[in-house]
Formats: sequence, C-alpha cells, structure tokens
Amino acid sequence: MKFSLKSYNTFGVDARCKQLVPIDSLDSLLQALEAHSKTELFILGGGSNVLFVGDLNSTVLLNRISGIDVLEQNSEEVFVRVGAGVVWHDFVSWSVDKSLGNLENLALIPGTVGAAPMQNIGAYGEEVRSYITKVIAVSRNDGSIREFTPEECEFGYRSSIFKHALKEKYIITHVDFKLSKNRVLNSSYGAIQGLLEERMIERASIKDVFQAVIDIRKSKLPDPAEIGNAGSFFKNPIIAKSEFENLHAEWPDMVYYPAGNDHIKIPAGWLIDRLGWKGKVIGNTGCYENQALVIVNHGNATGLEIYEHAMKVQKSVKDNFGIHIEPEVNIIGL
Ligand code: FAD
Ligand code: EPU
Repeated sequence: MKFSLKSYNTFGVDARCKQLVPIDSLDSLLQALEAHSKTELFILGGGSNVLFVGDLNSTVLLNRISGIDVLEQNSEEVFVRVGAGVVWHDFVSWSVDKSLGNLENLALIPGTVGAAPMQNIGAYGEEVRSYITKVIAVSRNDGSIREFTPEECEFGYRSSIFKHALKEKYIITHVDFKLSKNRVLNSSYGAIQGLLEERMIERASIKDVFQAVIDIRKSKLPDPAEIGNAGSFFKNPIIAKSEFENLHAEWPDMVYYPAGNDHIKIPAGWLIDRLGWKGKVIGNTGCYENQALVIVNHGNATGLEIYEHAMKVQKSVKDNFGIHIEPEVNIIGL
C-alpha cells in the first residue's frame, strides 16, 4: 500500500492506506461515498485521537470541510454553523477574537470541529456538549443527511452516540454552536485560578481565560509536533463509592473527585504514576515524564508497539488497584 498516514496522525505512526482523499464539501463527500463501498472508507480529521495498530485496507477521507457562518443572533447569543474540517483551535480563536464566550476553556485541543462531538471533548471544567445545538451528518449507508439534537447525540464523559451505537455509521459535516455575548466565565479549575492570580488579573476577560488555558496546556502536555502522542490515552475511571472507600483506606493519598451521588472519578494519571510508570521508557514508547496518562512515541514506534505499551499499563492498573481503565484513543485496525 502506497500512502503513508505518518503525517496525518499525531502519534506519528507510519501506517499505510490504499488512498488518501481530501473532502472539502458535502458534494465531494457524497461522491466519495458513491465511489467506494461503505466498509472500505475511513474518515479522519486531525488524527489526534487515533492509534493505527497496522495498515488500513481502506481509502482514508480527510475531512477538510471549511466555513464558519453566523446563522442568527439575539442580545444574548450568536448561533454559528461550522464546517467539520475547521481546525478546532482556529474556531475557538475566532470566537475569542469576537469577544464571544463559551469555548475559551477548550482552547488548544488538537483536531477538527467534526471530531469534537465524537467524544464530547472536554477540558478545564467544560465539555463541548454544553454549547452544541446541532450535529449535521451524512449516513454512510445511503448518503442521507440527518440532523441530531444534543439529546440525540447522547453525550457523556468522553462519549457520544457516534462513538457507540452509531459508530462508523455517520460522517459529521457541520456542527452548530451557541456562543455567548455575556459569558459568565468558568475559572473555577484550580490551575486557571492560580495563573490568573499570579498574573494579578482580578476581572478576567474571555481572552485572559483563553490565554491561561493555552499556557497551562503548553506546560503540561507534549506538543505532537515534537513528540508523538494523542493526549490522554485512557479515560479517567468512574467507580462505585463503596469500591472507592476500600481503595482509599489502602491508598490514602489517592486523588479523587465526586461523580454524582454514588460514584467517584479517579485520575488515571495518578494511578499510572503511583505505579512508577511516569517517564518510563520501553523501546520506542513511554509514559510522558510530566503526565503519566499520555503515552508517547519516542521515535519510530509502530502502532502495535504503542498499543502493547498501553496494554501493559492497563494490566498493571488492573493488577494493583482492581480498576479497569478504558482507552480514550480510538484504536484502529485491531
Ligand atoms: P481524529 O483523530 O481524526 O478522529 C477521531 C475519531 O473520530 C476517529 O474514529 C475518526 O474516524 C472519527 N471522526 C473524525 N472526524 C469525523 C467526522 N467528521 N465524522 C465522523 N467521524 C469522525 N481531547 C479532549 O477531549 N480534551 C483534551 O484536553 C484533549 N487534549 C489533547 C491533547 C493532545 C496533545 C492531543 C494530541 C490530543 C488531545 N485530545 C483531547 C484528543 C483530541 O484532540 C480530540 O479527541 C479531538 O476531538 C480529535 O479530533 P481529530 O480531528 O484529530 O479526530
Ligand atoms: N496526576 C498525577 N500524575 C500524573 C498525572 C496526573 O498524579 O502523571 C494527578 C494529579 O494529582 C492531577 C490529577 O491527576 O491533579 C489530574 O491530572 P490533570 O489535571 O493533568 O488531568 P487529567 O485528569 O489527567 C483530564 C483530561 C484531559 C484534560 C485535562 C484538563 C481525561 C482522560 N483527560 O486529564 O484531556 O485536558 O483533564 O481538564 O479526562 C484528553 O482527553 O486527551 C485530555 C488531554
């Protein structure tokens, strides 16, 4: 197979595919759906949440559908439709430049707008589901267009219907958002508050929070242009309170957050770190030195090597804490 996906995935894995086809409009997408059998196609945005464990016997569609259009506005909000191929951070920057709030805590998340609903991207106390008003997608089956309300998207923590019941059934072409003209900022996340105080900013603007999030992210997470990674490899596990209480008695320094009345969320990064994985290198792969939850490609690792590293980490957490940690990254070709 001829085409390398190395520069199309942030792990920098040199997997191959049959063909690479950029899609820049609804028409070009419909043409591609007609020209290929539906099982033969794989849709890719920025490649920042995929791990290719082998070559793909597929034609890869690169989503490049562009455009940010204002649909309507009132005294409180502006409603916009954004092409699925727009780079997520470019859209966030566009909104911040116009002093429109809601997305500033989600600055600098890699990838495209079309992939944002896939796992309901989130960071720094916010999730995109709060600001999505509609997801427009094309059925891979028959090319029909369907509009999903936020309820129909079944958003959850790092999840949506597109990652589960409708996995690989739809290609998202546009996403509608509501942006606020009178945003009440959410700077409650410790690190944001700390940085604003350090900068002696008392009345923070949307831009201040946006910049703080960018600076915090740059200090914590590896830049995929320098070291291959896909952000958090696993989701943070959510366990029953009773199970947590037993574990907490054994590991009193365990970091945790309440998740509803009966459940507790534990940072997977803490679990992995506590077992000595942070900074650990195995061949070409490793757990990042500043964030154990981020699995990195130290050189020319194959997708399979990265996967095997992840499975060792997963087993170690299961053996020591009895907790199953589920990959957040989409593992392709297993
Ligand atoms: P891709 O990796 O291209 O695709 C991901 C999945 O979605 C694939 O299964 C693909 O087939 C499917 N897909 C892509 N586009 C479409 C479409 N248009 N229609 C249907 N299916 C589609 N995520 C967070 O939530 N919060 C973070 O803070 C965060 N930080 C990160 C930091 C780093 C350094 C990195 C590398 C990643 C981080 N991520 C984070 C993960 C990633 O940025 C998000 O999951 C992002 O939304 C992926 O976008 P993408 O376009 O790169 O998707
Ligand atoms: N921790 C450690 N050691 C580590 C890493 C983390 O002890 O090596 C502990 C620390 O105590 C820290 C806590 O875990 O306070 C949480 O760590 P961090 O604030 O870095 O957040 P996270 O839970 O690891 C989540 C998201 C990130 C998102 C950040 C900020 C998941 C799976 N990950 O990470 O999203 O950017 O919060 O909100 O929910 C992604 O999805 O790819 C991603 C990067």
